[in-house]
Amino acid sequence: MHGTSNQIQPHHEAPARMWGLGGHHYDDVSFAISDALAHAAKRLAAQAGETVLDVATGTGWSARNAARSGANVTGIDISDELLAAARDLAPSALSLGFRCADAERLPFDDGAFDRVISTFGVMFAANQQRAADELARVCKPGGRLVLATWVPGGSVAQFFGIVGKHAGDPPPEQSPLAWGDPEHVRSLLGEAFELTFESGTSHDYYDGVQEIWDWYVRGFGPVRQLANTLDAKALAAFRADVGDYHRHYLTSAGLLHVKRDYLLVTGTRR
Ligand SMILES: C[S@@+](CC[C@H](N)C(=O)[O-])C[C@H]1O[C@@H](n2cnc3c(N)ncnc32)[C@H](O)[C@@H]1O
Repeated sequence: MHGTSNQIQPHHEAPARMWGLGGHHYDDVSFAISDALAHAAKRLAAQAGETVLDVATGTGWSARNAARSGANVTGIDISDELLAAARDLAPSALSLGFRCADAERLPFDDGAFDRVISTFGVMFAANQQRAADELARVCKPGGRLVLATWVPGGSVAQFFGIVGKHAGDPPPEQSPLAWGDPEHVRSLLGEAFELTFESGTSHDYYDGVQEIWDWYVRGFGPVRQLANTLDAKALAAFRADVGDYHRHYLTSAGLLHVKRDYLLVTGTRR
């Protein structure tokens, strides 16, 4: 089930289905990048009693991080499957609520939140300016915005390139990776926010190429969807490219030490 809410823009129905394929296993993806998510939470610096919105929350990792401070946190996402997992994973002691909504059309009043966060999330909305305007609209004056985004030309960008090559889809009109370019983020958000930028690298470890393949296919919707649709020969070619790509991360200790570069954006609402 997806898009039970008419809050979802029609052009986000297919992405909602795709991301939803990860289900509860998407949380293993958030676990793998949990150092970057902790960095974002540190910059968000939510305080007890504040209102926080986590846009494109997935299974709610960043929402849970923010709620640990005692803030009242709302997580939104287009995928009902991921939201169901987020609800299951929410500790009852924390003030956390989740609802189905689209980053391009947030169902909240102007200035409803003290702090707004989106970790590797809002970057996937199709209309970047509309999503950016919504982030600004719901953040109160003096409030804080934190974004974590993959960077163009980085290791995740290269991996997305492999997925795109095997999917054979035309590239999106606006690349999600543009959100990893400070100048582009300034053009989207600079009028509404005073912005600062930091770069970071997320580190994760796998036993080998088999483990990372299984991990991607289980929890990461875009890879799961592609693996489900390719015939046996095309799947083998995709899998071989994914293996080759990750082999250069092999350490002398026999582990894959995967590094993923990101941009951390912190904004103060003007
Ligand atoms: C890579 S996951 C990130 C999830 C989580 N924020 C994290 O840090 O692990 C991308 C998420 O963006 C959501 N998403 C994509 N487009 C969206 C949109 N237009 N509005 C809201 N959520 C969206 C997907 O459903 C998915 O949960």
